[in-house]
Amino acid sequence: MALKISVIGTGYLGATHAACISSLGFDVIGIDTDASKIAALQNGKVPFFEPGLEELLAEQIATGRLTFSNSFDAITDADIHFICVGTPQVKDGLAADMTYVNGALEAIAPLIKAGSLVVGKSTVPVGTAARLRARLLEINPQADLAWNPEFLREGFAVDDTLHPNRLVVGVTNDRAEELLKEVYATNLGDGVPWVRADLPTAELVKVAANSFLATKISFINAMAEICEAAGGDVTVLAKAIGYDPRIGSRFLQAGIGFGGGCLPKDIRAFMARAGELGAEQALEFLREVDSINLRARQRVIDLVRKDLSQDLVGKKVAILGAAFKPDSDDVRDSPALDIAVQIHAAGANVVVHDPKATIPASKRFPALTFTESIEECLKDAEIVLHLTEWKIYGELDPVVMKALVKNPILIDGRNMLDRSEWQKAGWHVRALGRADTNR
Ligand code: UGA
Repeated sequence: MALKISVIGTGYLGATHAACISSLGFDVIGIDTDASKIAALQNGKVPFFEPGLEELLAEQIATGRLTFSNSFDAITDADIHFICVGTPQVKDGLAADMTYVNGALEAIAPLIKAGSLVVGKSTVPVGTAARLRARLLEINPQADLAWNPEFLREGFAVDDTLHPNRLVVGVTNDRAEELLKEVYATNLGDGVPWVRADLPTAELVKVAANSFLATKISFINAMAEICEAAGGDVTVLAKAIGYDPRIGSRFLQAGIGFGGGCLPKDIRAFMARAGELGAEQALEFLREVDSINLRARQRVIDLVRKDLSQDLVGKKVAILGAAFKPDSDDVRDSPALDIAVQIHAAGANVVVHDPKATIPASKRFPALTFTESIEECLKDAEIVLHLTEWKIYGELDPVVMKALVKNPILIDGRNMLDRSEWQKAGWHVRALGRADTNR
């Protein structure tokens, strides 16, 4: 008999995991306490933008294998329960807010059947899995708990889930590992590397991976600062060092830095946890990684001030991009939106365009002006900021765009636009980490 699976929490991680696991042939019930989210999912609607997910969701609902509910009673006959709830940063510190993870465990522990396995996927401070396992056994001695961190990227969530580059399972016994091997049999058949670890190592793999990625981005952004000071070009530098396979060229895109619901809060929570463990010195460097990252935002604002003679009041600033990265409508800790808000606070008339994220962005910052039209965004602008590298922005015709603006000044905050094309069309182009080659 095929395993029955429940997924607790249907945000980016949970909704994607539920649809993907269903596509592997399992019966899946997705649970969320947010009734509107469940209503949308039941109707085949994904409450956020993730390429390919809505199609997969509709297809899986139609098979009858994938269902959703806001009642925990619906999970009682499941064999495996994946916890996929969020762990955002606490409001008054660096640590992760464990309210939702703790709440999920307390809610399901008394309900689940003997022999069932709870599997944490949320990103948590190391030590959480062991604590939750002890608590679970206290309430339900016949159950077990394992940890299976998730490495999906927004924008590629479906593909990353169906074709992961590795599977990591933190377990305390062989049976838990065997059950997880049954869930991931298709991936194992495809040759996906399988790493069995203890609970703390499995939790650490996730935050270590995200810390490494954040460090790589901040490293190249630190090099961008040096290039600016020395008259070099960080894009050429990144290309050159990236040819060394020990370094690799990915995650060396210099610009306004990392944001989103993962990297920033994960490095902060990791530092907070290291402090609790008495190992804060080991992660001191992450403080610098965070500072370099936030400084990149400020450096763009400084460029805007410089170009507008230090006075932003009443000046129209066109901002292309609000999402924290392309192919996502996620604006959590978005560098683009943060810059927009700060420039708005300095008195500028900021108009923001984004192909997918204007609704979530306007919910967060209703005082900003958003538009669905790139032309309207750029019309009479005194400066244009390219802050999220959506493909459509790379396809803009600089000649046509020049006719719209008041001043043809462009700041490419992602180092992605073809600088020479824009310069040829008469634009004055600035970018982080590149010497000013404008004539
Ligand atoms: C990140 C990790 O890449 C995933 O492996 C992980 O599973 C996920 O967090 C998570 O913890 O759930 P994600 O937040 O979707 O995924 O986004 P990334 O693609 O990692 O990009 C993060 C930020 O870094 C974006 O703001 C992006 O614009 C920025 N970035 C990325 C750069 O500034 N430069 C680069 O070279 C690469």
